[in-house]
Amino acid sequence: MEKIFFTYPGNEQISNDVCTICSGIKGEFQFHKFPDGETYIRIITDVKEKVCVIICSLHHPDDKILPLYYLCCLCKDLGARQVVLVAPYLAYMRQDKQFNPGEAVTSEYFASYISRFADKLVTVDPHLHRKHSLSELYSIPCEVIHAAPEISKWIKSNIRNPVLIGPDMESEQWVSAVAAKAGAAFTVLHKTRLGDREVEVSIPDIDKFSDHTPVLVDDIISTARTMVATVKQIKQLKLKPPVCIGVHAVFAGNAWEELKNSGVDKVVTSNTIAHSSNIINMARLIADVI
Ligand code: R5P
Repeated sequence: MEKIFFTYPGNEQISNDVCTICSGIKGEFQFHKFPDGETYIRIITDVKEKVCVIICSLHHPDDKILPLYYLCCLCKDLGARQVVLVAPYLAYMRQDKQFNPGEAVTSEYFASYISRFADKLVTVDPHLHRKHSLSELYSIPCEVIHAAPEISKWIKSNIRNPVLIGPDMESEQWVSAVAAKAGAAFTVLHKTRLGDREVEVSIPDIDKFSDHTPVLVDDIISTARTMVATVKQIKQLKLKPPVCIGVHAVFAGNAWEELKNSGVDKVVTSNTIAHSSNIINMARLIADVI
């Protein structure tokens, strides 16, 4: 079945790579914002009876979700057989329960909205915390790709004598798997989040690793407070400048500048969100499931 790949603006690099690996056809469409903020969309490529793959990373989701909905509806109206949404970064995974009376459980609302207009979802390491699987939220088939093997490979070939440091106790399983594949030691932070932009961390057993290169690994770098606080501790302990690795380069506000200037050796991310720190390419693994 022929596959047509539509690149939501801002996703060009990963989308081109996935399309090339899949030997797909690039879908041509016009996308325009009217002066009043409304969206115009026109698909030029014939999509009748085809599978349409739409690649759109969902950071800043509120700006994208309505145009994305229009694009998916239009594919269907023009006769597409199936619409596959590839969202290398999936948003709204944190508010998955009501913490206080009257709060919206946006994870559920977002999932039920997407499930209404896409036939299938492909994503990379969604932030599953209290939920065990996307099927608890989404009613369409979902494929989840893991960045861990690629991260391990990168660490193995680029860092001598690493010690991996995970962000919190919940990440222990993930970090230990990345460490095992990279042939590295690991520890996880004791972390307390005091607010949106305030965290306190301590690094257990780190004195055992004074001759190692600290490698901070996390699924999301958002405000970068977790990493910046850890880098501070590492500096105080007079360890080597750390390498910071994140799957999803969200970098809210001035998080990128703050992390870059905090005393790190380097920052490495995967290309689930286009950013100058992208080094780990997830295109091959995404193409494999498409
Ligand atoms: C938390 O559960 C995640 O694994 C990350 O540690 C968190 O999202 C990082 O957030 P920030 O960059 O805002 O500290």
